[in-house]
Amino acid sequence: MNQNKALWEKGDFTRIAASMRESGEALIAKLEIKDGLKVLDLGCGDGTTALPAARLGAEVLGVDIARNLVEAGNRRARQEGLENLKFQEGDATDLCELDDKAFDLVVSIFGAMFAPKPLDVAKEMVRVARRGGRIVMGNWIPNDPTLVAQILKISAAYTPPPPDGFISPMLWGIESNVVERFASAGIPRSNVSCLRDTFTFNFPGTSAMFVDEFRRYYGPTMNAFEAAEKSGRAEALRKELETLFESQNTNRGKELTSIPATFLHVTVAVV
Ligand SMILES: C[S@@+](CC[C@H](N)C(=O)[O-])C[C@H]1O[C@@H](n2cnc3c(N)ncnc32)[C@H](O)[C@@H]1O
Repeated sequence: MNQNKALWEKGDFTRIAASMRESGEALIAKLEIKDGLKVLDLGCGDGTTALPAARLGAEVLGVDIARNLVEAGNRRARQEGLENLKFQEGDATDLCELDDKAFDLVVSIFGAMFAPKPLDVAKEMVRVARRGGRIVMGNWIPNDPTLVAQILKISAAYTPPPPDGFISPMLWGIESNVVERFASAGIPRSNVSCLRDTFTFNFPGTSAMFVDEFRRYYGPTMNAFEAAEKSGRAEALRKELETLFESQNTNRGKELTSIPATFLHVTVAVV
């Protein structure tokens, strides 16, 4: 079994993605998408960024390793009547079903960063992008004090250490690594630019309810709770996450949880 696939098929990321729609749309709105632009959304989930790109008239292919998310994306595309949007299964480390230079824009927002073998991922993103095209990645930043980096950090303290040779997805959030990975795929260092940006999670409930959503539906947090239950520390994990979520909630006291999180916004000019 592919552990990477199993992790993302385990839960139901659509439940978390529902809190990410506004920022996904805002991010896409800044990418100057025009009618007919060929876009690959890699690690697309159920289409948080793929749907807004298609609504702007792009020809969008969403590729994700998780079958349940591909099915959910295709359902959303059908419901909106977006004939210019298709989702299919695929692995960012080996996009063998995709042609060279097929896309004007390759987008991967908190997607490809979770695939193993980052050098293969960079090579594949460059291979399928047209010369003169762009790659845009959104990557969480290790040790950043905001939400997602902290969830992953807290969760790691409750789970067994990863196997030897495991490369943390968070290393995609360090500019020097990003530059080196794309350089190894043939991109000049000066063609890679990185900025800090903000992505806001909006959840219609209290921060404790939002923690519960992660506990029940977000693969990495589900694994952390399973391990914590075995060691009798599940209650400590819940409290730690609730404290984190509440401290970052900018809508305190209301029935909406709104949490901004910092990420590395990477743009690569493909040559
Ligand atoms: C945090 S979710 C983000 C989903 C989506 N981009 C969004 O912003 O809503 C990470 C996504 O990456 C996908 N993913 C993880 N490893 C992958 C791989 N090797 N190839 C393709 N997709 C992958 C997961 O299935 C999941 O949908």
